[in-house]
Amino acid sequence: MADSAPTVPAALTTDAPLAIHSKQTVDPWNVSGETGADGVVKAINYHTLIEEFGTKKILEEDLVRFEKVTGHRPHRFMRRGIVFSHRDLNYILDRYERGEPFFLYTGRGPSSDSMHIGHTVPFEFTKLMSHRWLQDVFDVPLIIMLTDDEKYLFSESREIEDVQKYTAANVKDIIAIGFDPKKTFIFSDYEFMGGEFYKNVTRIQKKTTLNVAKAIFGFDGDFGAIQGATAFASSFPHIFGSDKSISSKIPSLIPCAIDQDPYFRMTRDVAHRLHFAKPALIHARFLDALQGPGSKMSASIDTSAIFMYDEPNKIRTKINKYAFSGGQVTEEEQRAKGGDTDKDVSYQYLTFFLEDDEELERIRVAYTTGKMLTGELKAKCIAELQVYVKGFQERRAAVTDELVEDFFSQKKLVFRGNPHPIAA
Ligand code: TRP
Repeated sequence: MADSAPTVPAALTTDAPLAIHSKQTVDPWNVSGETGADGVVKAINYHTLIEEFGTKKILEEDLVRFEKVTGHRPHRFMRRGIVFSHRDLNYILDRYERGEPFFLYTGRGPSSDSMHIGHTVPFEFTKLMSHRWLQDVFDVPLIIMLTDDEKYLFSESREIEDVQKYTAANVKDIIAIGFDPKKTFIFSDYEFMGGEFYKNVTRIQKKTTLNVAKAIFGFDGDFGAIQGATAFASSFPHIFGSDKSISSKIPSLIPCAIDQDPYFRMTRDVAHRLHFAKPALIHARFLDALQGPGSKMSASIDTSAIFMYDEPNKIRTKINKYAFSGGQVTEEEQRAKGGDTDKDVSYQYLTFFLEDDEELERIRVAYTTGKMLTGELKAKCIAELQVYVKGFQERRAAVTDELVEDFFSQKKLVFRGNPHPIAA
């Protein structure tokens, strides 16, 4: 049949749109907005996700409390609704107030060796979170997991050797974002699996057999147990000691993109049955691709994203040429009607990367009232991204193999531990 003309079923020969309407999907393997009857993929609706997943929206009052408890202004990602949802953040703040220990845990699946600005967002946020807490009397260890096994298991084409190569490159990129080796342990599953960690993996697996995971979460729990076990302090005796009566009570706070939530719903569900502290979560939304709301950055499509190795000129060309504009077609029209910041990719990137709230607000007002033109907005975005990416590249060039070894080594982390003994 290969070369013959395709036969068109009668029902499809009308002018009706051929696109199939499909719902929004957000899980660890698929992230896609709703496809309308017109075939256009819509932006992800984060409000519905909060309802569907049963998480809590981060409210103004949460930000006020965060500031009061930590003594630091919430990060711009929190102020601007980029980190928009949580599970039990208040419990972690309570512990912090009482001087009780917890740790931070985040991770990355090494799926390619080209990280883009979307990949760095959860790490930037984690860095800021850890700095906030680390500066104070209470030191919080950070664990970063590289799920090389996950990226091998869930891909048809990748070989183990490929993911190992990506792991070696990604770990340097992650370090370049700026973590403190004295307080951070990084591991990859292939290297670290064993010991107490693997015991916890199998404990979770045993509690999630009979396809419970599949029934409840819609996926196989085997890998989920690995990602979940990292949320338990007792998996890391070199950091938290081997007394399980203490380590089993130390919870993690997991900064992650919202698509990872299903894994941790399962982890939270088994935690109480294993008598382990439930992990808390804080969720980030995604950064849209250059093509605008509803589009996705892809590591294999150069024009979809700004990559962390892009040169300044390339950043300029990409933003000028590809960044979807919410502005009007002509200058005259823009002056009269103003632009739409909700749809404008350059504006959106500024909300992620421009620190100064007042400047961002000035830009928003100028753009929406037509005082600012698309070209000027793009120039501002280009300048910010060039600074961000250049800073990254300089730090990346300074990451040595010895430093990588230090992060990977199972050494004691420097943290003050618990100033008040944990209530038994
Ligand atoms: N599954 C994640 C990915 O594919 C990697 C990951 C593992 C992770 N543990 C995590 C991400 C904890 C966030 C938080 O990228």
